[in-house]
Formats: sequence, structure tokens, C-alpha cells
Amino acid sequence: MLLVTGGAGYIGSHFVRTYLNRNPRADVVVVDNLVEGHKEALAFSDRITLFSQNMGDRDSMRDILSRFPVEAVVHFAAFCYVGESQQKPTKYLQNNVINTLNLLSVLDELGIKRFVFSSTCATYGNPRSVPIDESHVQDPINVYGMTKLMVEQALRSYAVTSDWSYVALRYFNAAGADDSGEIGESHDPETHIIPLTLQAAAGKRDAVQIFGDDYDTPDGTCIRDYIHVNDLAVAHCQALDLVRSKQVNDAINLGTTHGASVKEIITTCAEVTGKEIPTRICPRRSGDPPVLVADNRKARLVLGWNPEYDLKRTIETAWMWEQNRRF
Ligand SMILES: NC(=O)c1ccc[n+]([C@@H]2O[C@H](COP(=O)([O-])OP(=O)(O)OC[C@H]3O[C@@H](n4cnc5c(N)ncnc54)[C@H](O)[C@@H]3O)[C@@H](O)[C@H]2O)c1
Repeated sequence: MLLVTGGAGYIGSHFVRTYLNRNPRADVVVVDNLVEGHKEALAFSDRITLFSQNMGDRDSMRDILSRFPVEAVVHFAAFCYVGESQQKPTKYLQNNVINTLNLLSVLDELGIKRFVFSSTCATYGNPRSVPIDESHVQDPINVYGMTKLMVEQALRSYAVTSDWSYVALRYFNAAGADDSGEIGESHDPETHIIPLTLQAAAGKRDAVQIFGDDYDTPDGTCIRDYIHVNDLAVAHCQALDLVRSKQVNDAINLGTTHGASVKEIITTCAEVTGKEIPTRICPRRSGDPPVLVADNRKARLVLGWNPEYDLKRTIETAWMWEQNRRF
């Protein structure tokens, strides 16, 4: 049986849905304290047992794990706001690192050593070459990225000293929503460009802010690699198959290899929605590299991953969700 931490969050809920669809006889246990997640995001199936708990509380985790035959874990639970991590490092270190280390210690104690971890391209810091492959130096420039790197190192510590098997998946920018329209992105505050732009298109915001239009990119705005959340979900299923089948100790990028600038995102959102989208040019934010684009050859080779959604379709699914949000 599978334990999913943070499974009521954006990416976690899409993973749970994909995993249950691909494994019709499987059940999952989700531990999510609902600080950021939504229990409505898991309402689509009765094969999910949700515990509204802190995944870093050792006693509660021992108790939950004594009641279910869990043999593998997918760990999404974390705080994920880069800006906030710079202002409140303790909050991020406490949750992303200390709580995760507590979780790992309980899993190690109970012999549950198959693990898939949500890492991030933020562990690379300012790219020295683009596209970024997994051998790129990890030199994060914000606390959020540092906390994720610390967990990668903790996992490596377990894997080199015992029979742990794990994959750290370094995602680029997650985007889009499930095609069913039942689940999608719902963060408060929202900081991601696609939902912010679509909310401006829907008249829920007066304008989209563009943070800097004088970068060294073709249109002056930052370029990012937007990967559909269901493509991420499939990669987690494949990574899970891998850690269950043999002992691995690895990190794999998840991105499309296609960069899109902020202006291109806004143009594509305008095309998809048929609306004019007001924009406001603002100063650059500190710590925003001009270009972050993945080299995804390793994911294709090692996982057999083949992302299916292009940018337009990703935005179409996000727009469908934005117009008919359930939470
Ligand atoms: N969204 C992205 O573009 C992106 C990119 C790279 C990496 N990631 C990583 O992917 C993971 C999921 O991101 P998301 O966008 O779905 O975020 P999210 O906030 O929607 O989901 C995280 C979930 O974890 C839960 N959680 C947090 N701390 C917890 C704790 N101590 N115990 C139990 N539950 C807890 C929250 O309630 C939430 O439901 C995170 O680890 C994030 O760092 C996200």
C-alpha cells in the first residue's frame, strides 16, 4: 500500500487520481494537515483514507503506519512559496526539513524504504548552462531550494548506508488541471503566473504583473518550463515502479524542455480565453533567473516518461478549471 504525504495539495491530488486510475485495485493513505491542501481535492474516490495530520509528528505517523501495510511513500508535503521562504526561513526549515527528517526516521525504523520525493529545479540556483541537466551544480539561491536540497542529501545518506531506494524528482513549473474539471490548482495566495493570468482574464484581478521586461531574453521577460500536472503525476507512477523494482538512489528532472516567456504565457492565455488581459510592468524580483528550462532526457530514458501536454493544452485545462472551480 502507498502512503502519500501532501496528497490533498495541487500536485499530490493529481498524482493520487492518476495512480488510482492506473491501479484499479490499489488504495492509498494520504497524510495532509490541510494547511494548504483541500479535502475536496480527494473527493473523487473512496479508495483514499485521509488523515489530517502533520507528517512530521512521529507518534501519529507510527500509529497510522501500524494500521496499514504501507511499503512505499510519495512525499509531496512541504511549504512551497519561494518569497515567503526568504522572509520566514525557520518556518521552511521546520516543515520542509525537520518534519521530513522525522518522517524519514519513522520510515527507517519501520523498514519502509521505497520513497519518491518532490524536489525542484530551485535546487540548481542560477543556471550556469541551459537546458539544465541533473549533473548541473546544485547551488540554490533561496531558502526553499536549500530545504529541498537538504532533504535530497538526507535521502542520499539513508541510501548509501542501507537498502533505501529513492528517486528525487526535480520539477520545473507545474501547471494545468485535470481534464475532468474535478481538481485543479487552488493556492492562497496564488503566486503562479498561469492561474494569475487566467484570473485577470476572468476579471477577478485588475492586471497581471510582469516582474521585469529587461532580461536578456528575446522579449525581455523571464523564460520558464511549464509542465502539466498530469504529466508530473505519470512520472511519479513510473518512479514508484522503479523504486519498488530495484534499489535506486537518483535524481531526475521533470520538465518539457520548451521554455515560454511571461509574455508568451499571457499571449497564449489571451488566445485560449478570447479575452484581453491587462498587464502591469513591475521591477524585477530578486532571485529570478532569466531562463530555467529542463533537459529531460534522463526522465525519458530511465522512467520511460513521455510528457503529453503542450503549453496551449495545459492552459486550456487551467482555464476550464478557473471558470468552474470546486474549491
Ligand atoms: N507547484 C510547483 O510548481 C512545484 C515545483 C517544484 C516542486 N514542487 C513541490 O511539489 C510539492 C507539491 O507542491 P504543490 O504545488 O502541490 O503544493 P501544495 O501546497 O498545493 O501541496 C502541498 C501539500 O502539503 C501539505 N502539507 C504541508 N506541510 C505538511 C505537513 N507538515 N504535514 C502534512 N501535510 C503538509 C499541504 O497542506 C498541501 O496540501 C511540494 O513539495 C513542492 O515543493 C512544486
